[in-house]
Amino acid sequence: MDKKATILVVDDEHGIRQSFNMVLKDQFNVLMAENGKEAIHLLTTNSVDVILLDILLPDINGLDLLEKLKAIDPNPEVIMVTAVKEIQTAVRAIKLGAYEYMIKPFLVEDVINIIERALEKKHLVREVAYLKNELQRYHPFQEIIGEDQKMKDIFELISTIAESDGAVLVQGESGTGKELVARAIHNLSPRKNQPFVVISCAAIPSTLMESEVFGYNKGAFTGAVRTTLGKLEIADKGTAFLDDIDTLDVTMQAKLLRVIQEKEFQRLGTTKVIRIDVRFIAASNKDLKELMEKGEFREDLFYRLNVFPIELPPLRERKKDIPLLIDYFLDMNAKKSGKQPKRFSKKAMRILMEYDWPGNVRELQNLVERSFTITKGPVIDVKDIATFDTGKARSKNMTLKEAVNTFEQQYISEVLESVEGNRKEAARILGIHRNTLLSKTAGLGLKKA
Ligand SMILES: Nc1ncnc2c1ncn2[C@@H]1O[C@H](COP(=O)(O)OP(=O)(O)OP(=O)(O)O)[C@@H](O)[C@H]1O
Ligand SMILES: [Mg+2]
Repeated sequence: MDKKATILVVDDEHGIRQSFNMVLKDQFNVLMAENGKEAIHLLTTNSVDVILLDILLPDINGLDLLEKLKAIDPNPEVIMVTAVKEIQTAVRAIKLGAYEYMIKPFLVEDVINIIERALEKKHLVREVAYLKNELQRYHPFQEIIGEDQKMKDIFELISTIAESDGAVLVQGESGTGKELVARAIHNLSPRKNQPFVVISCAAIPSTLMESEVFGYNKGAFTGAVRTTLGKLEIADKGTAFLDDIDTLDVTMQAKLLRVIQEKEFQRLGTTKVIRIDVRFIAASNKDLKELMEKGEFREDLFYRLNVFPIELPPLRERKKDIPLLIDYFLDMNAKKSGKQPKRFSKKAMRILMEYDWPGNVRELQNLVERSFTITKGPVIDVKDIATFDTGKARSKNMTLKEAVNTFEQQYISEVLESVEGNRKEAARILGIHRNTLLSKTAGLGLKKA
């Protein structure tokens, strides 16, 4: 269940504070301040969602207080509470960032309504930040394919640990499906309707890492033109995926450790502590334990993350999954393109089964997509995959002629690529006539130059 939203009521009149409390206490956590000083104190020490702020206070002008509160924490939506004669001031408050104003006296329903709308707006702001973050990444919702016993064990592990909040460390070579697994854990967890936020440690330059992760308030440093939520805040109540965690520098390792332990942090340039409820899943394609033993990765951070370790096997160690994955990707391509289904010839399949797949499932997925696209008929044959790295697999099932052809096709396409498709130039380098080149490249699916 969602925790209750917190409302801070700032009013110097005891009677008004009490009536707000009566109206709000069933639905919300209510904090009350009778002057500006108390309001500042309460906002500094609590996570507040909405502030009901009286414009006339004994110790400070309501507008000044509004600015002070916004500087401490710009997150809460502020609703000004005012008498008819102060409407001008209320309008100025809106310009200073207040959400709305309410004119005294008011009905109970109106108060609840306006607070609910403010909360909804807050929610939307976070959702937009999250969607922006997600849109930068293309990831169709996807199944995890695999029947190898190692994969079956992993599926079981995923559904068990999805229930818990413990950190997960997913390790495996590049392209083995680490992000896929992380998303699956999130999607099966009670957090599934909350954000899954990727913190890409390798892609974010270390100088920007802190501001990306922790966020900052307007004016926190030169160039901080507006308050920006960090990824941790966006991930609140959801899951943060720390991708390529091995690339984090030592300073960030220490800072992140603190967040994972304390579940709190500060935005850059601020002192207010923000509490978060985030589940952490980290991924690495290097052996973190080895890095730790070499002193390149903090031991305490390693043990914090390694509560549930998941080791994804490389594709070459679960070859019986290759045909399953191929069928799955062929099917996906047919659906996506609206074209007729295609399949690989027996010989092509044999090459794919023997290949080592250093880029694992990602490499296989790319190969299927590319060969599906360039092959005209329903059968993808050896020549259609020969231009890919799999050519290097040197299948032991090929006749000499097939092997020579495979090499020839591969070499021709490499030369063509090096001269950017200029056939005349390629023919010169290869020492053959242009017409010969033309006939030899007929199967490559290249455009005529
Ligand atoms: N078992 C699987 N079933 C279906 N698709 C898979 C599987 N494993 C990986 N994929 C697909 O392969 C691609 C790579 O997977 P993913 O991005 O999860 O790998 P990764 O381990 O995070 O790689 P890297 O270390 O390079 O970031 C994705 O398109 C993913 O959907
Ligand atoms: Mg990845």
